[in-house]
Amino acid sequence: MTACIFDLDGVIVDTARYHFLAWQKLAKELGVELTRHHNERLKGVGRMESLNIILELGGLQRSDGEKESLATRKNAWFVEFIEAMKKEEIFGGATALFSELKANGVKVALASSSKNAQTVLKKLEIGSYFEAIVDGTMIERSKPDPEIFLKAATMLHASPKECIVVEDAEAGVEAAICAGMKCVGIGKKEQLNKANLVVDQIGQLNYQILNNL
Ligand code: BG6
Ligand code: MG
Repeated sequence: MTACIFDLDGVIVDTARYHFLAWQKLAKELGVELTRHHNERLKGVGRMESLNIILELGGLQRSDGEKESLATRKNAWFVEFIEAMKKEEIFGGATALFSELKANGVKVALASSSKNAQTVLKKLEIGSYFEAIVDGTMIERSKPDPEIFLKAATMLHASPKECIVVEDAEAGVEAAICAGMKCVGIGKKEQLNKANLVVDQIGQLNYQILNNL
């Protein structure tokens, strides 16, 4: 392992919950019931792709203009949540893991589909841990496409097979595998069974575990 690439939402901080709450609010307005089970499909994918899944669940169709305004409304609610967020919401052990990896010569990167990733990093004051940051404004295709992870690896001058991805989304695990990288899933084995290892929280990981994958 020469590089470790972390997803943000649901891996480093519980912003996955805020995405879910904001989408659920929008879905309710549209008359669509969005369950936690449905939400697994929304994790890791871009804003418009998520909206399309919700519309599909409800059997609804909207024009491009209407979709833009629906996505903007959801984002406004999400931004309200992250503005109120505190540094204490960073998952236990996350920053210690970044430091431990660096101390062992491993490069650390962030790869998030979110266009709000930089805002979240600033709010939590953790941007300086990452040698490379790829966010939703820098990619053409969202996870499960491997573009985001390949871009991060290129920025770190690391070859994909030397990279380990840490992800909470099924789409993210898929993207890591497509990129030719190893992957640790954060969450439930049923959803993330394609990952090389699945743990409940980032705090359970350390350099040795990752390096032995
Ligand atoms: C991902 C989240 O990190 O970013 C998704 O897992 C979210 O739930 C996606 O939809 C896009 O986020 P944003 O902030 O650009 O709407
Ligand atoms: Mg995530």
